[in-house]
Amino acid sequence: MVFTIEQETLQLSSELEEQLVEDLKNLPENAPEAIVDNNFISTSFLNALGFGLQDRVPEFKTGKGTKAVDYGLRFSKDNDLFLHTQANPHVLIELKGRDINLEYNSNSYKTTFKQLKGYLLSSNCKSAHWGIITNSKHIQLFRKHGKVIFPATPCLEISPENIVDITYKIKKKIEETSRALTVAVYNNKGGVGKTTTVINLAATLTLHKKKVLVVDFDPNQKDLTDSLNINPAEYKFYHCLKDKKDLVDLKQVICPYTKTFKGGKTITFDVIPVDNELAAIDEDQIRTEISFHSLRKKLASVKYDYDYILIDSPPNWKFHSISAVYAADVVLIPTKHNNIRSLQNAAKTIKQYLPEIQQVRQEKTQGLEWGAISLPIFFNGEIISPAARVNAKKAITEIIKKAKVETKIDLTPFFFPRHKPGSNTSIFELSNSAHIANSAFNKLPAVYRYKVVYDYYSQLAKEYFLQ
Ligand SMILES: Nc1ncnc2c1ncn2[C@@H]1O[C@H](COP(=O)(O)OP(=O)(O)O)[C@@H](O)[C@H]1O
Ligand SMILES: [Mg+2]
Repeated sequence: MVFTIEQETLQLSSELEEQLVEDLKNLPENAPEAIVDNNFISTSFLNALGFGLQDRVPEFKTGKGTKAVDYGLRFSKDNDLFLHTQANPHVLIELKGRDINLEYNSNSYKTTFKQLKGYLLSSNCKSAHWGIITNSKHIQLFRKHGKVIFPATPCLEISPENIVDITYKIKKKIEETSRALTVAVYNNKGGVGKTTTVINLAATLTLHKKKVLVVDFDPNQKDLTDSLNINPAEYKFYHCLKDKKDLVDLKQVICPYTKTFKGGKTITFDVIPVDNELAAIDEDQIRTEISFHSLRKKLASVKYDYDYILIDSPPNWKFHSISAVYAADVVLIPTKHNNIRSLQNAAKTIKQYLPEIQQVRQEKTQGLEWGAISLPIFFNGEIISPAARVNAKKAITEIIKKAKVETKIDLTPFFFPRHKPGSNTSIFELSNSAHIANSAFNKLPAVYRYKVVYDYYSQLAKEYFLQ
């Protein structure tokens, strides 16, 4: 009996595969959107992804005014047919005709991505975890986690030879949606507030009922481990990272950090602390024992257990920061408005380090993963006078100009995320607070003790992460 079902499934999938290839081959060179939809997307592509007729809503109303995205998709359950409820989509597809160029970074690629982003963030699409843009010549899958949207694949060129492979890889990603967003907090400059951000953001997200893991990956300083007063568990992270056979379960090195409030209520986030061996081993030796993708590989085993995995990294571009960024989906960059080096480092990270890591991720995954992107920078922890703010923005404008000339990379969205031609250059600011500065001595995240600090970090969490 089981044998027959398997046979049928295999049969069905090979029919689907053939149809997928046939449909694509038969599409006219300049097929407009309606033809791409009628002769390819709705006939074979959606079926191959596993979305039947009851699992799709064409012209799905996003809630953004009267605007509709070409498809909303969700796997229906017994009494909950997506076609009937038309609520809580899992995937959105923004479709174009072959006459629209979706090659990476073309103007129409940029506007199409912007359009998809708007839909993904609309009120009726909060449940969406994925977005696809395609014109049947190119396709790209994006992941949405809360407010964060990042590429899950590069923009892939489609052909009859690779369409089956691409479709099944996208299907696999959609079916295996991880719970966690992995965030590396990085700036090449020390003292900008990386560790402070990781600790307080973790505590804040925990207060927002999110399940959080923080990783101290700055073994020289081990400020995070020390300021939370964590004693490493019996099993050492260092052994786990070294262990190629996966004999040491990552869960064995995780330590809970629990805060008990007056009245007895407790809340907990988890920590992977620096152990004495990880702290003792030097850069040259660690490279011989652990590869820079070990961290990513080990964290994969807990990506269904947490909403956020936050990695604290050291202030240099060496083994530990490279590992942290390689492991991450996105990088959060604290800077100081009055420290030009921290701003230049942010620019360097975005225009040089991240593309390098993206290239390695793409090579290591046979072109199927994109690698971490940067979130917009923020100013951390200084009192900013209006004049100083103007100066900082002038300096940033120069940095953006220089990058455009030298590398053709437009850094504007990473410094001025709300920028529109002619206006808005606002940058998120996390206020200065003596409570924050003093808290490292108290072995307690400041947000657990001071409402005002909790409000600061809640604003940060809402600006970047929470939808
Ligand atoms: N918002 C803030 N207000 C006041 N002090 C801060 C703030 N953020 C960080 N600090 C202080 O700045 C110093 C450097 O922060 P830290 O998080 O250790 O930086 P990094 O990890 O980048 O080296 C610490 O003493 C910390 O308490
Ligand atoms: Mg630090």
